Amino acid sequence: MKRSIIFCIFSLILISTACNFSTPKPPYEVVQNLVGDSAMVVAEHPLAAQVGKEILQAGGNAVDAAIATQFALAVVHPRAGNIGGGGFMVIRLADGTVDALDYREKAPALATRDMYLDENGNVEESLSKEGHLAVGVPGTVAGMEQAYMKYSKLKDWKALLAPAIHLAEDGFAITESEASRLNEYKSQFQKANPDPIPFVQEAVWKMNDKLVQSDLANTLKLISENGSMGFYQGETADKIESEMKRGGGLISLEDLKNYEAKWRKPVVGNYKNYRIITMPPPSSGGIVLMQILTMLQRFPLKNYGFQSIKSVHAIVEAERRAYADRAKYLGDSDFYYVPVDSLLDTTYLNTKMADFDSMKATPSAVLGPQVKIGVESYETTHTSIVDQTGNAVSVTTTLNLNYGSKVIVQGAGFFLNDEMDDFSAKPGVPNYFGLIGAEANAIQPGKRMLSSMTPTIVEKDGKLFMVLGAPGGSTIITAVLQTLLGVTDYGMNLDQAVWAPRFHHQWLPDVITCEEAAIDTTVRKQLWAMGYKLENVSRMALIKAVMVLPDGKLQGVGDNRNPDDHACGF
Ligand code: GLY
Repeated sequence: MKRSIIFCIFSLILISTACNFSTPKPPYEVVQNLVGDSAMVVAEHPLAAQVGKEILQAGGNAVDAAIATQFALAVVHPRAGNIGGGGFMVIRLADGTVDALDYREKAPALATRDMYLDENGNVEESLSKEGHLAVGVPGTVAGMEQAYMKYSKLKDWKALLAPAIHLAEDGFAITESEASRLNEYKSQFQKANPDPIPFVQEAVWKMNDKLVQSDLANTLKLISENGSMGFYQGETADKIESEMKRGGGLISLEDLKNYEAKWRKPVVGNYKNYRIITMPPPSSGGIVLMQILTMLQRFPLKNYGFQSIKSVHAIVEAERRAYADRAKYLGDSDFYYVPVDSLLDTTYLNTKMADFDSMKATPSAVLGPQVKIGVESYETTHTSIVDQTGNAVSVTTTLNLNYGSKVIVQGAGFFLNDEMDDFSAKPGVPNYFGLIGAEANAIQPGKRMLSSMTPTIVEKDGKLFMVLGAPGGSTIITAVLQTLLGVTDYGMNLDQAVWAPRFHHQWLPDVITCEEAAIDTTVRKQLWAMGYKLENVSRMALIKAVMVLPDGKLQGVGDNRNPDDHACGF
């Protein structure tokens, strides 16, 4: 259960640029299950979670903590935390107000629908995943500024940047998992970046090696001094443009100047006696999650039992149908009509489940052509926060794949995303996550690519109950679903629900992917007999969640699949 907290302590809390801020010494003792009296931050790196907690202790609210954590993650978790990518933030204030912020990347103005096709009309797969052409116009800095302007309590932007600047400038000790990733990606970094970068060194990286990012510190200082103008205009924008010219990318100064984060109306729906508040398009997460939950309403999952044959069958069939709708209908609603209300309509969803056969799998092929599976990956990062007054933030952010396009903006010190791969490069051809799409998610200048990120907040009886989300590509949605069902239907504690083995179905490819322990041998045999194919994967999405306990205390849980997930609270 609860491991002792003793994670080295930042000396003093500081809330000014001139603050006196000391970085903990390794090794970090990671806490993945913690109960706090009044506030909680769960993030994908101990230093970033600690930054969020200290902002709360200094009088910031959950949004302030989310902003500071995001900037800290951009330093200490460079493979997904970012200023060169984008994300989504779902907010529920203590008074019940809900909101959703979209700071997803956009296709550059010069992007074209067929930009990743060769002369024979075939997708050149590497172009949308690696190098300069894979980069969407970054949204993170604009998103953080929007969140700050609308909801900050601290009203001290520089204070929110200060910890990240400190970590970049003075360096920090990397974790074992970061060391192993930096070694793994060394040749890709070198290929994409002819000049020296801080992530490449001659020696093999080891845990506790110090990573100093001076260029990134300077970029963060420009953002600290000038807000989003310090990123989208002036020195940093010029460096991004030069980087694009160097590598044949498309992003222009105009694209950067024109980027806007947008406030959206969250997807809100009911599941049993819970109210779910989650992300609308351009994420598919909220709609797909609510579709699956609504299709499952009629099934007595609790009576069926956790990961019993009946439970797995019902959940997989609901997932299959929802992901089929995802491919057909979902995209950026600013560019393509997404019939959100119709897709979430209970009658419609019951009709979709009308052909559910309790004895047999429904073949996905009846809904479209078979495609090969993409290799699953776990990039992206999530933070869940509840503050002392009950405000809650669920925020997921990404560069897409690990370290995004692998391209560093020379002289500015940050990785650029490869989010363009989340568009449908060609109808019916799967992206990295094996997801396929149609016209709704075709590439257009200025459009945002469809996402699976599912930052979610749950109410029970009108009160805040859970905050959750995850990295994990297409498995994010089903991981959020299964964590939720673990608590709402299967009577689990939050830690049991987050740590329970998981399975996933996304319509195409027509296979249940699962962690080995998720489905036992007896159930596997029954599933085979019903027509299912199964494929084991080593792990799925990495949930970070906070739950309000019956006594009002907060339980924060990181995913035990990830050694760096960390819960911090008080
Ligand atoms: N790049 C992964 C996602 O947005 O779903």
